[in-house]
Amino acid sequence: MDQLPAAVVILAAGAGTRMKSALPKVLHSVAGRTLLGHAIAAGRQVNPSRLCVVVRHERDRVAADALGFDDSVLIADQDETPGTGRAVQCALDRLAADGADLGGPIIVTAADTPMLDGGILAELMRCHVDDGNAVTVLTTHLANPTGYGRIVRERGALVGIVEEKDATEEQRAITEVNAAVYVFDGAVLAEALQGVGQDNAQGEVYLTDVVRIAHERGLRVAGVAVEDSWTVEGANDKVQLAALAKEMNRRIVEDWMREGVTVIDPATTWIDVDVELAPDVTILPGVQLHGACRVETGATIGPDTTLTDVEVGDGATVIRTHGSLAVIGPRAAIGPFAYLRPGTYVGEGGRLGAFVETRNATIGAGAAVPHLSYVADAEIGAGTRIGAGTVFVNHDGVRMHHTTVGAHCQIGSGTLFVAPVTVGDGVYTGAGTTVRRDVPPGALAVNSTSQRIIEGWVERSRPETSAADAAAAAQADATGRDA
Ligand code: UD1
Ligand code: CA
Repeated sequence: MDQLPAAVVILAAGAGTRMKSALPKVLHSVAGRTLLGHAIAAGRQVNPSRLCVVVRHERDRVAADALGFDDSVLIADQDETPGTGRAVQCALDRLAADGADLGGPIIVTAADTPMLDGGILAELMRCHVDDGNAVTVLTTHLANPTGYGRIVRERGALVGIVEEKDATEEQRAITEVNAAVYVFDGAVLAEALQGVGQDNAQGEVYLTDVVRIAHERGLRVAGVAVEDSWTVEGANDKVQLAALAKEMNRRIVEDWMREGVTVIDPATTWIDVDVELAPDVTILPGVQLHGACRVETGATIGPDTTLTDVEVGDGATVIRTHGSLAVIGPRAAIGPFAYLRPGTYVGEGGRLGAFVETRNATIGAGAAVPHLSYVADAEIGAGTRIGAGTVFVNHDGVRMHHTTVGAHCQIGSGTLFVAPVTVGDGVYTGAGTTVRRDVPPGALAVNSTSQRIIEGWVERSRPETSAADAAAAAQADATGRDA
């Protein structure tokens, strides 16, 4: 692209009432990114000199989301006058205050069209510049155009846009709609906005009126239609939001399959935009990969696994697991039914089995926690095996404490490590040991409470129970055999 846009303006000030939500519309997410984040990402792709986001409804939250995504964004505050035209006017004022030269092309997009990408913006820019347009509008044809502004043409030429609520019955039958993505000549935009009133069904300053005004002044106004109407679909309510999320996901999953990822069931596989997958990863049905997950080659995820911000090493398997902010080493084996909470690191070839919960825990290379355990604020050395039902007792009711278990230990089933405690390398613990004091390397730790046997207790103290009957029968059998 020869000419770069002077600015990209993203409109995000509306209340988004159709979402019926306490969360501002533009902060709803698809594929792990807010609608506003998608709009900013698309705008950045065309390298504008400045990128400006217009805010008003829930101003601070929306501005924080924009700046969190891209801290070089300019925030413009819309005043009490409603409408997309007013929003653009406020952006122009903000850009001018920032010293921007607004003579060149200015791209305007809405923050609620998440599938819009930089490729389409670049294409629109190219048409605008090459054809010498004053205004270039992105349009699409929809089988059901309800709710959108309609593109009004006379003898093929775009002469204006009429909103659904202001349209005549004849105009409502038009299926070419306004995508709310435009390139304007900066000077034309600034001047035409002066002439836009609020005399319409919604009492708003419509940006769309700029199109009619420019046409009436004899300037070149053009509409460019995209075939893929998903790319301009707005997420105005939760039905549209879900449909967009599904379609975006379908495309993301398809892109990964083309990169060599095996996806057994695309329909039940959900992958966020920022996830990274290596070739020859296998994803089984019912998997959600959120946030900044990264999976290396040869790993198998699923079935039925949800990971958020988790790194999975090559050749690892993660079965029926819920995990966040964790690192799973190469060739580690996780699940089924494991719960990896933030700060979990599993070393190469490590194993976490059924009903194991971990948090702030480092599991050494080749170490195993195979069954029914809670491992928190702990470090387990390489090659150590933790018996079933072991609990790292980390919380004293007020504070958390740390436990260190050395390498190549054999921890008996039902051991309780009462933190803070340090266990040396090569230690054994007996089944059911409560470890309250440090254990030196190579020692055996046991708590010996001798087992008492009280003969005949069940028949005396629990008569007429099934246990008493079973005991009586066993005794009669034994007596019979002895006889
Ligand atoms: C708008 C267009 C319509 C188009 C449709 C495509 C106008 C008048 N109408 O309608 O022609 O077919 O988008 O999706 O432009 N906003 C502000 N300030 C405001 C009002 C809205 O910043 O005062 C922002 C919203 O946050 C939103 C965007 O502008 O991101 C579009 O607003 P919305 O209310 O969704 O407009 P539509 O009715 O969908
Ligand atoms: Ca909209």
